[in-house]
Amino acid sequence: MKILNVVGARPNFMKIAPLMAEYSRRGDIRATLVHTGQHYDDKMSDLFFGELGIPKPDINLEVGSRSHAVQTAEIMKKFEPVLVDYEPDVVVVVGDVNSTIACGLVAVKLGVKLAHVEAGLRSRDRTMPEEINRVLTDSISDFLFCTERSGVDNLLCEGIPEDRIFFVGNVMIDTLLKNKAKAEDSDVLKRLHLDGNDFAVLTLHRPSNVDDAFVLGGILDALEVIQNDMPVVFPVHPRTCKTLASSSSGERIEKMLNLRQTEPLGYLDFLKLMSYAKVVLTDSGGMQEETTILKVPCLTLRENTERPITAEIGSNRVVGTDPAKIIDAYRQVVNGGWREPGTPPLWDGRAAKRIVDILLDKL
Ligand code: UD1
Repeated sequence: MKILNVVGARPNFMKIAPLMAEYSRRGDIRATLVHTGQHYDDKMSDLFFGELGIPKPDINLEVGSRSHAVQTAEIMKKFEPVLVDYEPDVVVVVGDVNSTIACGLVAVKLGVKLAHVEAGLRSRDRTMPEEINRVLTDSISDFLFCTERSGVDNLLCEGIPEDRIFFVGNVMIDTLLKNKAKAEDSDVLKRLHLDGNDFAVLTLHRPSNVDDAFVLGGILDALEVIQNDMPVVFPVHPRTCKTLASSSSGERIEKMLNLRQTEPLGYLDFLKLMSYAKVVLTDSGGMQEETTILKVPCLTLRENTERPITAEIGSNRVVGTDPAKIIDAYRQVVNGGWREPGTPPLWDGRAAKRIVDILLDKL
């Protein structure tokens, strides 16, 4: 069987890693990896291939950063001849980035079967570019692999036939469980001069948070208070870095002496950092899942989540961006007001195996 796999942006890499490893364990699969080049900085891309043992992409489309329309269109233009040339039995796309929908659309238009890993998640917030990518990709996929039950329910409600939907668990958690012990060897805590676990970790990159001066201002109000209480480590996403460099928010952050900005970190460093943190503050999707498995409190700086299981039984609390609410939730966490999270069903390190079993069986 010929499987063509697509990655483009940082959160895709930890999702494809266990699938590529699983394909190579099976004798009857020829897997190809296409990198769209949506993310291209070494620290946003190459570093992860090395750390996670992902084979070098067979093809890099080198699309880079553009507006949504141009980026999506460029990926489609460059992916089509690759697909025509390779003639796979199935194209596998992961997550919800522009590369996911762009390559998915090319595949179905050429009559090639499409598998979507991490299907069915819904924030119900159509202002999020990822929500549009999720809804559209799911509506054209032949195999929809879900990480949590809510995904299955959402797809059924949207009229997706039941025989296309598979509840398989979470490939991102496969990668976390595989690398947790290895991450212990990282010296990131020493490098950042952190003692014990009295520190917080912060990430921010959603356009709704970093591109809106009012919202970002509110988050910074909360951070001013939090960093007075404990160090806050802030690996800065390139998008956020640009916003901060060109606005007064950057100057505000510079004055917060206990807010420690770093470049984007590699997977193992970041996994260790999250594991030892007292609390994680983020607008990321994947980190809500990772902190649940690490049993570290997570405050999600958004008004909604497409991963409700992390808030229902995991360690996630969706607090929004109101500074008073962020500070209140932070105080509850550090004062021990936190219940021990449970583990979502099938987040057991075997999702990739289930996916490959299903593809082999059905194709
Ligand atoms: C993308 C995904 C988002 C995901 C995030 C993870 C979409 C619509 N968004 O957002 O879902 O959570 O990746 O990081 O697909 N940049 C660099 N170097 C890079 C990549 C980006 O400098 O290697 C800068 C560029 O200024 C670029 C900006 O970041 O314009 C945004 O990059 P882009 O790929 O458009 O989206 P992200 O915000 O990274």
